[in-house]
Amino acid sequence: MSLNSTMRGYGAMARLLHWGVALLVATQIVIALRAWKLPLGNDKFALLLQHRSLGLTIFTLIVIRLGWRWANGVPTLPDSVGAAARALARFNQYLLYALLLLLPLSGLIMSQSAGTVVSWFGLFNIPNLVAADEALLKQMKLVHLLLNTVLFAGIALHLVGALRHWLWLKDGVFQRMLTGR
Ligand code: HEM
Repeated sequence: MSLNSTMRGYGAMARLLHWGVALLVATQIVIALRAWKLPLGNDKFALLLQHRSLGLTIFTLIVIRLGWRWANGVPTLPDSVGAAARALARFNQYLLYALLLLLPLSGLIMSQSAGTVVSWFGLFNIPNLVAADEALLKQMKLVHLLLNTVLFAGIALHLVGALRHWLWLKDGVFQRMLTGR
Protein backbone atom coordinates (compact mmCIF):
# COMPACT_ATOMS: atom_id res chain seq x y z
CA MET A 1 0.00 0.00 0.00
CA SER A 2 1.59 3.26 -1.16
CA LEU A 3 1.23 6.55 0.71
CA ASN A 4 1.52 8.53 -2.53
CA SER A 5 -1.02 8.78 -5.35
CA THR A 6 -0.11 7.65 -8.88
CA MET A 7 -1.59 8.48 -12.31
CA ARG A 8 -3.88 5.43 -11.91
CA GLY A 9 -4.99 5.50 -8.26
CA TYR A 10 -5.13 7.43 -4.98
CA GLY A 11 -2.49 6.74 -2.33
CA ALA A 12 -3.28 5.95 1.31
CA MET A 13 -2.83 9.56 2.48
CA ALA A 14 -5.25 11.03 -0.12
CA ARG A 15 -7.82 8.31 0.67
CA LEU A 16 -7.50 8.82 4.43
CA LEU A 17 -7.99 12.57 4.03
CA HIS A 18 -10.94 12.08 1.63
CA TRP A 19 -12.90 9.64 3.83
CA GLY A 20 -11.88 11.39 7.06
CA VAL A 21 -13.18 14.75 5.81
CA ALA A 22 -16.34 13.08 4.41
CA LEU A 23 -17.07 11.55 7.83
CA LEU A 24 -16.39 14.83 9.68
CA VAL A 25 -18.57 16.87 7.27
CA ALA A 26 -21.47 14.39 7.69
CA THR A 27 -21.09 14.55 11.49
CA GLN A 28 -20.80 18.34 11.32
CA ILE A 29 -24.07 18.72 9.39
CA VAL A 30 -25.95 16.40 11.79
CA ILE A 31 -24.64 18.35 14.83
CA ALA A 32 -25.49 21.72 13.19
CA LEU A 33 -29.04 20.72 12.29
CA ARG A 34 -29.66 19.33 15.80
CA ALA A 35 -28.33 22.57 17.34
CA TRP A 36 -30.41 24.65 14.91
CA LYS A 37 -33.67 23.07 16.13
CA LEU A 38 -32.91 23.57 19.85
CA PRO A 39 -34.02 26.66 21.82
CA LEU A 40 -31.28 28.78 23.43
CA GLY A 41 -29.85 26.86 26.40
CA ASN A 42 -27.05 24.60 27.61
CA ASP A 43 -27.76 21.77 25.16
CA LYS A 44 -27.58 24.16 22.19
CA PHE A 45 -24.38 25.79 23.49
CA ALA A 46 -22.70 22.40 24.03
CA LEU A 47 -23.57 21.29 20.48
CA LEU A 48 -22.38 24.61 19.00
CA LEU A 49 -19.06 24.28 20.87
CA GLN A 50 -18.55 20.91 19.14
CA HIS A 51 -19.78 22.36 15.83
CA ARG A 52 -17.31 25.25 15.89
CA SER A 53 -14.37 23.02 16.87
CA LEU A 54 -15.20 20.39 14.25
CA GLY A 55 -15.55 23.14 11.60
CA LEU A 56 -12.08 24.47 12.43
CA THR A 57 -10.73 20.91 12.23
CA ILE A 58 -12.29 20.48 8.79
CA PHE A 59 -10.72 23.79 7.67
CA THR A 60 -7.27 22.59 8.79
CA LEU A 61 -7.69 19.19 7.11
CA ILE A 62 -8.74 20.87 3.84
CA VAL A 63 -5.60 23.05 3.90
CA ILE A 64 -3.50 19.89 4.47
CA ARG A 65 -5.44 18.09 1.74
CA LEU A 66 -4.91 20.84 -0.81
CA GLY A 67 -1.20 20.94 0.06
CA TRP A 68 -0.95 17.16 -0.36
CA ARG A 69 -2.87 17.29 -3.64
CA TRP A 70 -0.64 20.06 -4.96
CA ALA A 71 2.59 18.25 -3.96
CA ASN A 72 1.45 14.73 -4.80
CA GLY A 73 -0.76 15.11 -7.89
CA VAL A 74 -4.13 13.55 -8.75
CA PRO A 75 -4.85 10.43 -10.86
CA THR A 76 -6.20 11.20 -14.34
CA LEU A 77 -9.72 10.14 -15.35
CA PRO A 78 -10.00 7.33 -17.95
CA ASP A 79 -10.41 8.41 -21.61
CA SER A 80 -13.95 6.97 -21.58
CA VAL A 81 -15.09 9.92 -19.42
CA GLY A 82 -16.49 12.62 -21.74
CA ALA A 83 -15.34 16.25 -21.77
CA ALA A 84 -18.55 17.60 -20.17
CA ALA A 85 -18.55 15.06 -17.30
CA ARG A 86 -14.83 15.70 -16.76
CA ALA A 87 -15.33 19.49 -16.60
CA LEU A 88 -18.36 19.17 -14.27
CA ALA A 89 -16.51 16.82 -11.91
CA ARG A 90 -13.50 19.15 -11.77
CA PHE A 91 -15.67 22.24 -11.22
CA ASN A 92 -17.58 20.49 -8.42
CA GLN A 93 -14.40 19.32 -6.69
CA TYR A 94 -13.00 22.86 -6.61
CA LEU A 95 -16.39 24.16 -5.46
CA LEU A 96 -16.42 21.67 -2.56
CA TYR A 97 -12.87 22.66 -1.53
CA ALA A 98 -13.81 26.37 -1.64
CA LEU A 99 -16.98 25.77 0.39
CA LEU A 100 -15.16 23.74 3.03
CA LEU A 101 -12.77 26.68 3.51
CA LEU A 102 -15.39 29.46 3.31
CA LEU A 103 -17.95 27.75 5.58
CA PRO A 104 -15.65 27.54 8.62
CA LEU A 105 -14.41 31.09 7.97
CA SER A 106 -17.96 32.47 7.76
CA GLY A 107 -18.89 30.46 10.89
CA LEU A 108 -15.88 31.85 12.74
CA ILE A 109 -16.71 35.46 11.78
CA MET A 110 -20.39 34.84 12.61
CA SER A 111 -19.54 33.57 16.10
CA GLN A 112 -16.96 36.28 16.81
CA SER A 113 -19.27 39.05 15.57
CA ALA A 114 -21.80 37.73 18.13
CA GLY A 115 -19.12 38.34 20.80
CA THR A 116 -18.44 34.60 21.33
CA VAL A 117 -14.90 33.56 22.24
CA VAL A 118 -14.28 30.65 19.84
CA SER A 119 -12.13 27.83 21.17
CA TRP A 120 -10.96 24.52 19.75
CA PHE A 121 -12.69 21.94 21.98
CA GLY A 122 -12.00 24.28 24.94
CA LEU A 123 -8.24 23.64 24.63
CA PHE A 124 -7.17 27.01 23.19
CA ASN A 125 -8.87 30.15 21.92
CA ILE A 126 -8.87 31.31 18.30
CA PRO A 127 -7.64 34.94 17.95
CA ASN A 128 -10.43 37.42 17.17
CA LEU A 129 -10.65 38.36 13.48
CA VAL A 130 -13.55 40.77 14.11
CA ALA A 131 -15.12 42.64 17.03
CA ALA A 132 -18.74 42.14 18.17
CA ASP A 133 -20.95 43.67 15.47
CA GLU A 134 -24.74 43.15 15.16
CA ALA A 135 -24.95 44.04 11.43
CA LEU A 136 -22.02 41.74 10.52
CA LEU A 137 -23.61 38.93 12.56
CA LYS A 138 -26.82 39.17 10.51
CA GLN A 139 -24.88 39.12 7.23
CA MET A 140 -22.71 36.17 8.28
CA LYS A 141 -25.76 34.13 9.38
CA LEU A 142 -27.13 34.57 5.88
CA VAL A 143 -23.76 33.79 4.24
CA HIS A 144 -23.35 30.61 6.38
CA LEU A 145 -26.85 29.47 5.42
CA LEU A 146 -26.33 30.22 1.70
CA LEU A 147 -22.96 28.45 1.61
CA ASN A 148 -24.56 25.46 3.34
CA THR A 149 -27.32 25.33 0.72
CA VAL A 150 -24.72 25.29 -2.08
CA LEU A 151 -22.73 22.65 -0.12
CA PHE A 152 -25.77 20.32 0.02
CA ALA A 153 -26.18 20.65 -3.77
CA GLY A 154 -22.43 20.09 -4.36
CA ILE A 155 -22.39 16.98 -2.12
CA ALA A 156 -25.49 15.59 -3.88
CA LEU A 157 -23.83 16.06 -7.31
CA HIS A 158 -20.59 14.47 -6.04
CA LEU A 159 -22.54 11.44 -4.71
CA VAL A 160 -24.50 11.02 -7.96
CA GLY A 161 -21.21 11.13 -9.94
CA ALA A 162 -19.57 8.55 -7.66
CA LEU A 163 -22.57 6.20 -7.86
CA ARG A 164 -22.66 6.60 -11.68
CA HIS A 165 -19.03 5.45 -11.93
CA TRP A 166 -19.57 2.61 -9.45
CA LEU A 167 -22.88 1.13 -10.56
CA TRP A 168 -23.39 2.24 -14.16
CA LEU A 169 -20.06 2.97 -15.89
CA LYS A 170 -18.15 0.37 -13.79
CA ASP A 171 -14.87 2.02 -14.89
CA GLY A 172 -12.99 1.69 -11.57
CA VAL A 173 -13.07 5.44 -10.82
CA PHE A 174 -15.05 4.85 -7.59
CA GLN A 175 -12.81 1.96 -6.48
CA ARG A 176 -9.60 3.95 -6.85
CA MET A 177 -10.77 6.23 -4.00
CA LEU A 178 -11.85 3.16 -1.99
CA THR A 179 -8.98 0.72 -2.48
CA GLY A 180 -6.47 2.89 -4.37
CA ARG A 181 -6.54 0.59 -7.42
C1 HEM B 1 -17.34 22.63 7.26
C2 HEM B 1 -17.68 23.48 8.18
C3 HEM B 1 -19.10 23.84 8.56
C4 HEM B 1 -20.30 23.33 8.11
C5 HEM B 1 -20.55 22.25 7.06
C6 HEM B 1 -21.34 24.03 8.86
C7 HEM B 1 -22.69 23.79 8.73
C8 HEM B 1 -23.69 24.44 9.44
C9 HEM B 1 -25.11 24.23 9.28
C10 HEM B 1 -25.75 23.17 8.32
C11 HEM B 1 -25.76 25.06 10.13
C12 HEM B 1 -27.28 25.21 10.31
C13 HEM B 1 -27.84 26.12 9.27
C14 HEM B 1 -27.21 27.49 9.23
O1 HEM B 1 -27.47 28.32 10.10
O2 HEM B 1 -26.40 27.72 8.31
C15 HEM B 1 -24.75 25.82 10.86
C16 HEM B 1 -25.01 26.74 11.86
C17 HEM B 1 -24.04 27.38 12.62
N1 HEM B 1 -22.67 27.33 12.43
FE1 HEM B 1 -21.73 26.17 11.06
N2 HEM B 1 -20.75 24.93 9.72
C18 HEM B 1 -19.38 24.83 9.59
C19 HEM B 1 -18.42 25.52 10.30
C20 HEM B 1 -18.66 26.41 11.35
C21 HEM B 1 -17.65 27.04 12.16
C22 HEM B 1 -16.13 26.85 12.02
C23 HEM B 1 -18.30 27.83 13.06
C24 HEM B 1 -17.73 28.74 14.13
C25 HEM B 1 -16.45 28.86 14.43
C26 HEM B 1 -19.72 27.68 12.83
C27 HEM B 1 -20.71 28.32 13.55
C28 HEM B 1 -22.06 28.11 13.40
C29 HEM B 1 -23.08 28.71 14.24
C30 HEM B 1 -22.83 29.67 15.43
C31 HEM B 1 -24.32 28.26 13.76
C32 HEM B 1 -25.71 28.57 14.33
C33 HEM B 1 -26.36 29.72 13.64
C34 HEM B 1 -27.68 29.99 14.32
O3 HEM B 1 -28.45 29.06 14.57
O4 HEM B 1 -27.91 31.13 14.62
N3 HEM B 1 -19.90 26.81 11.78
N4 HEM B 1 -23.51 25.44 10.40
